[in-house]
Amino acid sequence: MLNIALFGPPGAGKGTQSEKLLEKYSLTYISTGDMLRSEIAEGSPLGMEAKSIIASGGLVSDELIVKIIEKTIRTNTNSKGILFDGFPRTTVQAYILEGLLLKLNSSLDCMISLEVPEKELIDRLLLRAKTSGRSDDTLDVIKVRLKEYEDKTKPVADFYAKKNKYFPVNGVGEIDDIFENIVEIIQKNRKKEFTNIVILGKPGSGKGTQGKFLADKHNLVYISTGALLRVEVENNTEIGIIAKPYMDTGQIVPDEIPIKLIEQVIESNPHANGFIFKGFPRTMVQAYILDGLLQREDMRLSGMIEMKLPTLKAVKRLSERARSDRARPYDLNTDLIVNRLEQYREKTLPVNEYYKKQEKFYSIKAEGSEKKVFDLLSEKIEEILRSR
Ligand code: AP5
Ligand code: MG
Repeated sequence: MLNIALFGPPGAGKGTQSEKLLEKYSLTYISTGDMLRSEIAEGSPLGMEAKSIIASGGLVSDELIVKIIEKTIRTNTNSKGILFDGFPRTTVQAYILEGLLLKLNSSLDCMISLEVPEKELIDRLLLRAKTSGRSDDTLDVIKVRLKEYEDKTKPVADFYAKKNKYFPVNGVGEIDDIFENIVEIIQKNRKKEFTNIVILGKPGSGKGTQGKFLADKHNLVYISTGALLRVEVENNTEIGIIAKPYMDTGQIVPDEIPIKLIEQVIESNPHANGFIFKGFPRTMVQAYILDGLLQREDMRLSGMIEMKLPTLKAVKRLSERARSDRARPYDLNTDLIVNRLEQYREKTLPVNEYYKKQEKFYSIKAEGSEKKVFDLLSEKIEEILRSR
């Protein structure tokens, strides 16, 4: 998501620049002033409550503002981001904004402040008064609005300056030139969107077959903790020596080991667009660890895809692999296969629940041709990308 707030006194050009920004970035528009005016026009209870306050140039209550904003956010769940115009207007509203965006798993990218001298503001608004029909475009009310801005709204600038998200722009001059400066700031400061996907499924569900190709197709870096571990074992490294007995018996290796391996991959791919994690996290503890690992890099998980396969089919595939040249030590006897399936049920299934609660859980049927399963997974990744 790209979330921007346009800041500045009445008449600074917030509404004017908003139109251009909406066209460029296709964002959801939240202009609390416009929303209040349309509530008034409809004669709704909300509008009635706000009418006299707006006409006098004061600020309406924070409760009322939250109500109208939530209404818009709720009806735009697939939004690419939000452009806020005229909100937050008080420090309390800045906290409210943080909370609202946190609920969407997001945050504000930048606050852009349009700076215009008072005399010009008054001239602009008096000129606009001729056509705007706004009850608050009269000299007396404009003065009250400017005073409200000085007293209550300006402190919001400090709130975002402390977070390094506050960017003043000269609001005097050609509308297109001002717009260009705004766009430059946005491009420089927008958060990079990472795509981080977890692929889970029973042993034998085909995670390894699909993971690498999926990562290539979606321009992501593939992290298979299993494959990384096998390399360590083959090379007889320190990690490999510790991990080998666990792997040979189909057990989950101690958490420090996959963490170290994942950290190495993330660190050696500083320009990645994101990662596909295959077979990790395998336990609830590892799910928390992954959250922590991603958080440290200012990333989060985008979604988890379960590859569903009936147990009998999984057993069949694993015993077939045991007879092929791709056989793993832990494919070789039925006890080990059963053990791994049991571990999956006991330790990994709860991870699915964890992501379900966060609405990050997706699932596909891992049966049919490899191509068919690949297409299903690919579609899910597209769906995850759209839902962010
Ligand atoms: P709101 O509607 O947000 O009004 P405002 O902040 O006073 O700002 P304006 O809409 O008047 O100005 P603007 O910056 O959008 O400038 P514009 O682009 O139109 O709020 C109204 C009221 O609602 C508040 O007073 C309050 O009561 C209530 N309210 C709203 N949100 C609230 C909240 N969060 N909490 C509590 N209460 C809330 O430009 C102005 C004019 O200048 C236009 O005619 C334009 O054509 C012209 N212009 C623009 N750019 C240029 C330029 N570069 N050069 C020359 N002219 C220009
Ligand atoms: Mg406006």
